[in-house]
Amino acid sequence: MASMNAPTPVQLRQLMPALANKTYFNYGGQGPLPIPSLEAITASWRRIQELGPFTTDVWPWLSGEVSSMRGALAALCGVPPARLALTENVSSGCVLPLWGLPWQPGDQLLIGDCEHPGIVATCGELARREGLVLGTLAVKAIRGDCRADSQPTVAGAVLDALEAGLTPRTRLVVLSHLLWNTGLVMPIAAVATRLRDHPRQPWLLVDAAQSVGSLPVAEAARSADIYAFTGHKWCCGPEGLGGVALSERMLAASQPTLGGWRSLASESDGGSAWHRDGRRFEVATSCTPLLAGLKTSLDLMASLGSCADRLTLIRERSSQLWRGLQASEGFVPLLVGPPPAGLVSFTVEGQPPEAVVQALGRQGIWLRSLDEPACLRACTHITTTAAEVETLLAALAALRVSD
Ligand SMILES: Cc1ncc(COP(=O)(O)O)c(C=O)c1O
Repeated sequence: MASMNAPTPVQLRQLMPALANKTYFNYGGQGPLPIPSLEAITASWRRIQELGPFTTDVWPWLSGEVSSMRGALAALCGVPPARLALTENVSSGCVLPLWGLPWQPGDQLLIGDCEHPGIVATCGELARREGLVLGTLAVKAIRGDCRADSQPTVAGAVLDALEAGLTPRTRLVVLSHLLWNTGLVMPIAAVATRLRDHPRQPWLLVDAAQSVGSLPVAEAARSADIYAFTGHKWCCGPEGLGGVALSERMLAASQPTLGGWRSLASESDGGSAWHRDGRRFEVATSCTPLLAGLKTSLDLMASLGSCADRLTLIRERSSQLWRGLQASEGFVPLLVGPPPAGLVSFTVEGQPPEAVVQALGRQGIWLRSLDEPACLRACTHITTTAAEVETLLAALAALRVSD
């Protein structure tokens, strides 16, 4: 990062107003935005007004902003920039290319049972319109941990579940990289390898909402056909900007579904010569200043170390929390060992999850509940301190006493 001195995690915390007045464990919902990112957004907005807003002076500047962001996100995913489309959020990155694929009645969509409701509902609607069949990839019950000796077990269990779910008509598999509910990492590259041996070579759609910004993703992103993510969770960027990495075969096979002037190779070509690259899934006018915000957040994160280094920090705190829960009576972590990333899901005996969220929220401690499986989820990021984890454990213990 050229213009910014590299901060430590503690200094990064201090740059985040959201962390100044609360104990925050909802990074998987939305990450806090650092002040330099907020300032970069307003500076970009000002620049647009100075140069434009609609002048030949502003276009090269805007196009530089877009290609710099595309390059940064493509590098993060380990794909060439041409395979990266800018989106608004995870959902649009999943859905826009998915709807453009050629389907045949009777094709099976095999969907993980830990997928987000939005993508599940969309697959249901696609199936209804195109006469497709829905199948379930059962990964929710897998509760292994990430110690070196157990990782093959997790991967093996996922591959067994895949084998059980595949049929000769499977045409798409939907699986998150990091499951938002149990917190397990899925062996995406191994799943992709298995799908290549299938006679119908099913597409692989990966929801990367929880993985990008929290773990190294390049191997998985390169293996998937659709690898969709957002900047507003673990990357601590602004809401409203994300991306999707697309395979070559996806770019060749999928037609734009929500087309606009940005999807066209030539803006004046109403005859629909779509871009051949990722831009075919970009649509039209969007909020360009957000690019500067996300770029600044990504630079801040990168200045703290590689993705792998940051995952080590994230896991120190998630292990601390997991161990604390494990050691206390009345708390049951979902996973049988320390989490592979920053998602720690657990139940509190005798307490409905939502009641716990409310009670802790009144103390300024923020985590969330999940419906399926019914549990609480606390996320730890590089900005989470050991003291915050102890605060959460103590508050949970106090809730049990006052029960
Ligand atoms: C796993 C997962 N998928 C998808 C989404 C939806 O994200 P977005 O609002 O960016 O589309 C979320 C948001 O919480 C999520 O956790």
